Amino acid sequence: MQTMAIIGAQWGDEGKGKITDLLAEQCDLVVRYQGGHNAGHTIWVNGQKTVLHVIPSGVLHPKCLSVIGHGVVLEPENFLNELSKIKGVTNVTPDNLKISSTATVITSFHKLLDGARESQGPEKIGTTGKGIGPAYEDKVSRRGIKVKDLLDKDTLVRRLSNGYAEKAILFKHLYHIDIPSIDEEVERLYRYGEALKDYVTDTFSLIDQKLSEGKRVLYEGAQGILLDIDYGTYPYVTSSSTAGAGIYTGAGIPGRRVEEVIGVAKAYTTRVGEGPFPTELFDEIGNEIQTKGNEFGATTGRKRRCGWLDIPLLRYSVKCSHLTSIALTKLDILSHIKELKVCYAYEVNGKVVDCAYPGINLYHAKPLYKEFKPFTDDFASGKPSKEFEAYMNFIQECLGIPVGIYAYGPDRAQVVFRQKYS
Ligand code: GDP
Ligand code: IMO
Ligand code: MG
Repeated sequence: MQTMAIIGAQWGDEGKGKITDLLAEQCDLVVRYQGGHNAGHTIWVNGQKTVLHVIPSGVLHPKCLSVIGHGVVLEPENFLNELSKIKGVTNVTPDNLKISSTATVITSFHKLLDGARESQGPEKIGTTGKGIGPAYEDKVSRRGIKVKDLLDKDTLVRRLSNGYAEKAILFKHLYHIDIPSIDEEVERLYRYGEALKDYVTDTFSLIDQKLSEGKRVLYEGAQGILLDIDYGTYPYVTSSSTAGAGIYTGAGIPGRRVEEVIGVAKAYTTRVGEGPFPTELFDEIGNEIQTKGNEFGATTGRKRRCGWLDIPLLRYSVKCSHLTSIALTKLDILSHIKELKVCYAYEVNGKVVDCAYPGINLYHAKPLYKEFKPFTDDFASGKPSKEFEAYMNFIQECLGIPVGIYAYGPDRAQVVFRQKYS
């Protein structure tokens, strides 16, 4: 297998960082293709925690090349901070970390606009406040700034001036916020451009070349399929193509297709921010999962909403990204739980539906649950209980693809492979 992808199959935070780090060991490149530092990907190795935001989660394997593709939105200050932190943990150099010259830059204006809209706008999305949406808006309206523009002051002035007058009016008269002048922002960004220039390259041709040499490439998604700008629960989504299709536009996989697409899912469901959530729990069990699972956002620290595993949503995710297998995480959190349920279908307007197609109003979907005998596995013994097997087999049968990996703790070692990924 030369090409693989790790994609969140729910609303993000499924454990993509952990699974990417695991598989990166046998890969030559790990490529991020969308999103930005709204992502928070956690890896634990021997009691040491690393949280990555825009740097790919293969970075703890210095022999593996980390690539930030052109579909990513990059906030240079945040990137440089993340880089200096990670340099204390692993060996990162311009030889093993590359940034696409055509990735889009998140400026001060994007962050300010994101914050202003969330605090003053009529409809709150519950964003991470990192400027992600406004940066993608500028990209699509062809006013974005590319990483390569940071390396040339004249270009930077020209590109930043484009649209500045419009933004200045908006900030002054609608949001009543002072914003930096063009000169101030040019100086700031140019300084950062100088600091990151050694990492900048044409990543499309780099990936093309590595694939022709037979190297193994792992594409690392951020967020999850249900937050995809097209497939997700719009408008409560992020602004990029988080699903498999984003790989083709956001990184490039010249002349090929991704062979193995691993959807990462928690054994229950979580969501941060606003939006529908059919299996959300508001009772004691929900609180227990939230507390035991330590369900707080890795980027914003917000409490994650928790609910039972939702098969109709996962069936939809399998279709959206042609998932070929599932990595199921956090099974330790469900072990010893008093009550164990899985939503296998919804009742909507008196009809039973088993796939959360976009035509279904999720606010009106009543979850239908199958109850399972709780399992009490400790996992380390390597002998799964009958109850655990019954639970896993049910999920596998419902989704029609194998659960190839399952995880029972945050550490790199707390994992079981049920199939080979080589
Ligand atoms: P990502 O955004 O998909 O990479 O996931 P996050 O890092 O935001 O959130 C997943 C959280 O669950 C992190 O704190 C991980 O360390 C943790 N985690 C991953 N897999 C497991 C697991 O199997 N069991 C437990 N208890 N924690 C896990
Ligand atoms: P990882 O990669 C979970 C959510 C936000 C909000 C919506 C839009 O760690 O799984 P944005 O700032 O992107 O405009 O916010 O998307 N969101 C995430 N939720 N995990 C993430 O990333 C997320 N990135 C964005 O909470 O609901
Ligand atoms: Mg996360």
